[in-house]
Amino acid sequence: MRAFKTILVTGGAGFIGCNFIRYLLTKADFDGMIVNLDALTYAGNLESLADLTAPGTPTAARYSFERADICNRAAVKAIFAKYQPDAVVHFAAESHVDRSIHGPEAFIRTNVMGTFTLLDVARNAWKDRTDVLFHHVSTDEVYGSLGETGYFTEETPYDPRSPYSASKASSDHLVMAYHHTFGLPVTLTNCSNNYGPYQFPEKLIPVMILNMLEGKPLPVYGDGKNIRDWLYVEDHNSAVWTVMLNGRIGEKYNIGGENEWENIKLLKELIAAVAKQTGESPAEYEKLISYVKDRPGHDRRYAIDCSKLKKELGWKQSVTFNQGLDHTVGWYLGNPNWIERIQSGAYREWMEKNYGERYELPPV
Ligand code: NAD
Ligand code: DAU
Repeated sequence: MRAFKTILVTGGAGFIGCNFIRYLLTKADFDGMIVNLDALTYAGNLESLADLTAPGTPTAARYSFERADICNRAAVKAIFAKYQPDAVVHFAAESHVDRSIHGPEAFIRTNVMGTFTLLDVARNAWKDRTDVLFHHVSTDEVYGSLGETGYFTEETPYDPRSPYSASKASSDHLVMAYHHTFGLPVTLTNCSNNYGPYQFPEKLIPVMILNMLEGKPLPVYGDGKNIRDWLYVEDHNSAVWTVMLNGRIGEKYNIGGENEWENIKLLKELIAAVAKQTGESPAEYEKLISYVKDRPGHDRRYAIDCSKLKKELGWKQSVTFNQGLDHTVGWYLGNPNWIERIQSGAYREWMEKNYGERYELPPV
């Protein structure tokens, strides 16, 4: 089993990254330092970590934040020199498929050039060390789209179909190339759709919860029969941590919820979960369902075979979908300030006051 002293987490102000830092600070068997490197784009929100990292909180002493762009080699190099991390876990990315259709450039820049820059700085800083690890967080979308049957395994050929998934596929190839060519110790995980607390309200589940609470239409793309495999964010993070500790170097592992849902059926399940906690009748929420124009190139079905991770490393999911949904709905209902600030732009003002201007990506 590996042990780390200082872990550099990129994208730790985003949805999965902030949950990963929360997991390391409160649940995982880890007592070292965490350095959160994040550019604070529209998707980065340090308020998601404030209760654990504000000065005076017991866990704050193990945490540092560095605002930097992963494409900025000088800045990344300086962070490596300052903290001497012995592990990198790379979450930072442009992550939303719809945005990649409207503006692919930022995806190529951050996901391809940013990953390359991080890999190259790590390689130069670590030289031939073997007691270090670069863990890359990727997606099942690199495998393309499935028909009605079958699963993505680690051997499924890459077939990305959106600018987002093409940029993530490219980053995966760079990670493996740095391992094979330069001997960089890497592990890589490809996971399915995450849900849970702190997810930015552009992805399906938080969009639908917030629209229900506000009585707005619930936009279902196309026929609503696209299928995703849903994974609770803490289960994703426990899997990432398991692979970081015990995964074989140079190997990739799929992570999934083994929990496939057609979007429309998921929405009905979510409506029931929200209605249960608000006391509203599910029928009232169902009236809000609104079929809208489909996403261009909308992948039909994702389904993950994660038996390699389960058999080799003994990982398993810890919550059922209904438990995960109840917890997620409860979190959004219990955190109106977080939501209000995200929606009003007040969190942006707070971050601008504390961390300077909103980060605008320079051209490639
Ligand atoms: P997110 O969009 O919520 O957060 C991304 C974070 O990266 C933000 O804090 C943002 O400020 C930061 N960032 C963006 N560009 C940056 C740059 N150039 N330099 C430094 N920081 C930058 O994303 P997420 O949903 O938390 O996803 C995290 C990772 O997991 C991504 O790599 C994504 O591809 C992968 N992934 C996500 C899911 C999912 O369902 N959300 C599923 C599979 C894989
Ligand atoms: O599979 C892993 C991927 O899951 C990650 O790599 C991505 O970062 C993450 O964003 C997610 O991608 P999806 O495109 O699957 O997630 P999204 O929440 O955008 O959409 C889920 C499904 O719901 C998809 O079939 C599109 C549909 N949808 C989405 C939104 C936002 C709707 O029908 N209505 C909506 O309003």
